[in-house]
Amino acid sequence: MNIVANWSYPTAIKLGRGRIKELADACKTLGLKKPLLVTDRGLASMAITGHALDVLDEAGLGRSIFSEVDPNPNETNLEAGVKVYRDGGHDGVVAFGGGSGLDLGKLIAFMAGQTRPVWDFEDIGDWWTRADASKIAPIVAVPTTAGTGSEVGRAGVLTNSQTHVKKIIFHPKLLPGVVICDPELTMGMPKAITAGTGMDAFAHCLEAYSSPFYHPMSGGIALEGMRLVKEFLPRAFKDGTDLEARTNMMSAAAMGAVAFQKGLGAIHSLSHPIGAVYNTHHGMTNAVVMPPVLRFNRPAIEEKIGRAAAYLGIAGGFDGFYDYVLSLRAELGVPQNLSAMGIKPDRIDELTAMAIEDPSCGGNPVPMTLENTRALFLDCF
Ligand SMILES: [Fe+2]
Repeated sequence: MNIVANWSYPTAIKLGRGRIKELADACKTLGLKKPLLVTDRGLASMAITGHALDVLDEAGLGRSIFSEVDPNPNETNLEAGVKVYRDGGHDGVVAFGGGSGLDLGKLIAFMAGQTRPVWDFEDIGDWWTRADASKIAPIVAVPTTAGTGSEVGRAGVLTNSQTHVKKIIFHPKLLPGVVICDPELTMGMPKAITAGTGMDAFAHCLEAYSSPFYHPMSGGIALEGMRLVKEFLPRAFKDGTDLEARTNMMSAAAMGAVAFQKGLGAIHSLSHPIGAVYNTHHGMTNAVVMPPVLRFNRPAIEEKIGRAAAYLGIAGGFDGFYDYVLSLRAELGVPQNLSAMGIKPDRIDELTAMAIEDPSCGGNPVPMTLENTRALFLDCF
């Protein structure tokens, strides 16, 4: 089945195979004449990136690229990108890639016209109103993985290279004006990345669904996002060229990110410090800590997860759902626990302190304290 769709929620989304050929039109829609394509170093030399630059070039938009982007982008990458953007006289950004390329691309567009340091725009209270919104450049987003959902998000994650802490930078205008979701761009993903990014999408849906905040719209999106992952992630993992599965995983990823404005939780607040300290893959780390977090949250979410299980066609309520997560992890080759990931518990107090500081912490259904979070970490080893 060849899926093609044009959506306007939460932004303009062009979904379907081969639609990268509409990249130049997307730029022109936003008034861009000289876009800067931002991606990570690994993607810079890949054929899909060359092809995207060809599409821009053939339409007279040039083929400017910035790719000095680390796997966990930091303020040094951002400053270098902003300099290239300003020196090149660009008028917008094509954010191209997985989480790193998308987030840094969005942040370059955001910071290109600001005068305050980026940390002044952390997602705290109304700090975003400090930004001069009129100076934020237009963004076209092109995801090449199916997990982060950053293509439909109003935030970007930036790691402080001094403290290794990940900060969320927020502004409503960080939401890209046009998104191109072309499943053919995700076909070359290695199996482990398909698994890890797919489990990130699942974690977004699960945590958004489980969070205690009242937001039924997001709850519904999260539920259907989990269903898409259940049906299509094993297929995409088994056969990377299964375009129907790849397309549905792109939808699930976008849905997870739309849903998590309802909140995230302990999976992410544990995974963020582990990733920051040990450079582990974000989605894979989420998958590793997911079962202990489900056990931790059980008293608060048992009934709710029972309803999700029923919708997903899983028998046995919470226990059935829990067993399903274990079997999905096994099918995707997810490490059993943090020890199997090669991590030792020697920095557990530091990780616990960082987890409590993480913004995702507040959305967890069971309130997180230093004591219970330390115990939860131990349970993950
Ligand atoms: Fe995530």
